[in-house]
Amino acid sequence: MRSLTLDALCWLYVLCTVIICAALHVQYYWVILAVIVPVLALQWTLSRPKKLILPAYALVTGSSSGIGLDLAECFAKNGYHVILHGRNEDRLKEAQLRLSELYQVSVHYIAQDLADPMGAREIYEKAKEIAGNVPLSVLVNNAGLGSGGSLYNQSMESITCQIHTNMTALTILTRLCLPDMILRKHGKILNIASVAGFLPGPYASVYFSSKAFVVSLSQALTFEVEHLGVDVSCVCPGPVHTRFASQSGMESASLFNKLPIQSSADCAHQAYDALMRGKRLTGSDLLSHICVLVVRMLPPSWRLVVASLINT
Ligand SMILES: NC(=O)c1ccc[n+]([C@@H]2O[C@H](COP(=O)([O-])OP(=O)(O)OC[C@H]3O[C@@H](n4cnc5c(N)ncnc54)[C@H](OP(=O)(O)O)[C@@H]3O)[C@@H](O)[C@H]2O)c1
Repeated sequence: MRSLTLDALCWLYVLCTVIICAALHVQYYWVILAVIVPVLALQWTLSRPKKLILPAYALVTGSSSGIGLDLAECFAKNGYHVILHGRNEDRLKEAQLRLSELYQVSVHYIAQDLADPMGAREIYEKAKEIAGNVPLSVLVNNAGLGSGGSLYNQSMESITCQIHTNMTALTILTRLCLPDMILRKHGKILNIASVAGFLPGPYASVYFSSKAFVVSLSQALTFEVEHLGVDVSCVCPGPVHTRFASQSGMESASLFNKLPIQSSADCAHQAYDALMRGKRLTGSDLLSHICVLVVRMLPPSWRLVVASLINT
């Protein structure tokens, strides 16, 4: 487990070494060596992929298509039993067949609408029943949807569906899965947020706010449960080639036309890797890393202008 304490110790070590070397008038290249080598060695050790004890189940929400389906494949490929989830039963059945034929693992699916207030609880109960005695060690909160346009033009149904799916269900499902993970002292939670989580987004305001919620919740949760053996990773992709753009009515937005678009398989692979390496908050490619960096440096009024431009 990568802990916040280790990071703090790392910085303390760097500070003490610099102070001691300065006091002893040590040559600067020895100082660099004394700081860089141990810190790099520690970072390398901490960032090596850490696997959970298999057999274990991974529950991937929103895995009937797109990033979720590719993530489910990453888990199956690496020996996890997989529980797929989505609303479209035909696509779920097809994915179940394909993954169980390709990889020698159990693949099940749960068809459930997360906009239903009881949806998350029902998924959890069905997943526990499927897993039986095998631990449900990984939860991937990937299901999500957006809607483009001004808030006053969006239907009540669309707004509540986004809020329930992107925030309420994600929180409830996480809350339900945590006690067992804490009891076993191991578990992994992967939340798929978005670069949208770092700025307010005119013309997709509910979606952008919901992703800001996911980023904030994930960071706070990491602090609460990391020392209890549960790793929480939050991955923030930029534009990805999936059904999302058409589903959200944002096909013509600059976001999906003027920026490079990552493939869903690559995004899933990066997210899987981030989870296994215990990265807490990360982008899914170079573009998303740059976007987050730039957006964080912009004054608030500029962020609004940038977001309004990419959303139209
Ligand atoms: N594509 C992008 O550019 C992009 C960028 C950043 C972040 N993301 C995030 O990535 C995640 C996956 O999206 P995607 O791009 O892979 O889009 P996608 O292909 O449309 O997949 C969305 C998945 O979520 C499921 N889902 C949506 N609403 C649901 C609901 N109410 N109840 C149950 N399942 C629901 C869908 O299931 P059904 O189709 O079976 O209903 C589908 O499996 C989302 O959280 C999205 O916000 C996407």
